[in-house]
Amino acid sequence: DAADLEIGGHDTYLHKEIFEQPESLARMLSGRLDERFATARLDGLGIDPRELRGFKRVKAIGCGSAYYVGQMGASMIEDLARIPADAEAASEFRYRNPIIEPDTLYVAVSQSGETADTLFAVREIQRKGGRVVGLVNVVGSTIARQCDGGIYLHAGPEISVASTKVLTHMAVGFAMLALTLGRVRDLSYADGARIIAGLKSLPEQVQQVLDTDDEIAGAAASLVGAESLFFVGRVRGYPVAREGAQKLKEITYQHAEAYQTSELKHGPLALISTSMPTVAVVPNDELVDRNIGALQEISARGGRVLALTHEGVNLDGLDVQRINVPDGEVELQVVLLTVALQLLAYHVATQLGRDIDRPRNLAKSVTVE
Ligand code: AGP
Repeated sequence: DAADLEIGGHDTYLHKEIFEQPESLARMLSGRLDERFATARLDGLGIDPRELRGFKRVKAIGCGSAYYVGQMGASMIEDLARIPADAEAASEFRYRNPIIEPDTLYVAVSQSGETADTLFAVREIQRKGGRVVGLVNVVGSTIARQCDGGIYLHAGPEISVASTKVLTHMAVGFAMLALTLGRVRDLSYADGARIIAGLKSLPEQVQQVLDTDDEIAGAAASLVGAESLFFVGRVRGYPVAREGAQKLKEITYQHAEAYQTSELKHGPLALISTSMPTVAVVPNDELVDRNIGALQEISARGGRVLALTHEGVNLDGLDVQRINVPDGEVELQVVLLTVALQLLAYHVATQLGRDIDRPRNLAKSVTVE
């Protein structure tokens, strides 16, 4: 409704959209969690449990940030449903004559539902006999109508060119899809219930991330004017790092490169210096010790590190600055880490005086070739 389009007390739509996430996520989840059977209620998918069990692979396609969230989603699906899953940029997929498999579930991810590359990829998959569901925000959009079913994201209108709230909705959409796929395979009732509890806590936990806004603004000050930045993460953290670098580039025009933490030692470590800060995404997962080791390597070479991590992670003895987000279910931590990186990019851009809602050279949705 019209109230959704009001900027209210916010300086930019981007700020408004970041701060409305606790409320919009609660709305998205409402009525979609089935506690009795520890699964999600995704009627819009239009796929019955027997058919859902038959998929041998899941492939997410989308562009830009939607593609990075597709990567987050692929991890969730592999973690919870143990189905091989990956993500690809729709802009590449559509031109490379991909092999379309009848037992793959394709997931088209789009805020606008009008991105030409994603739409074309959907049509190409369908022409060759593949089944595509949509994770789309805009109701009745071209991609939403073209898909064989889907999950509406219910994030409300997103005005700012750089996407924020819709990305967290996409990640939550994938979590619900992963839960649904898992529960018709071998995800236990107890694990399903654990994910449901985690999803229910998310709006409140996102609010706790937003409450650290002043701290994040302080950390942003130390990144303003850096020649270039690394955003590093591994496994679950890597797509978060990619999205964090993307957001920074889009609205601050500072150069940033996302890299797998594990790959630094195979080359890019040569770039580490005092003028190249690193933003490290450190989920509280089974790889935390390896991540800490990599942070040590970076600081030993004179690199400044800002770690985006969880309260429960012990970084004692390391010379790094840290921002904490709440601990939570390991499969859902990406949501909280992503929100913190949205605030980080916002504050760097504000401190540089950028036109935050309308960054140069970019359109909200790329509807042309
Ligand atoms: C995100 O901040 C970007 N503006 C961009 O990467 C965007 O996510 C991409 O163009 C896809 O748009 P869509 O979700 O509307 O399809």
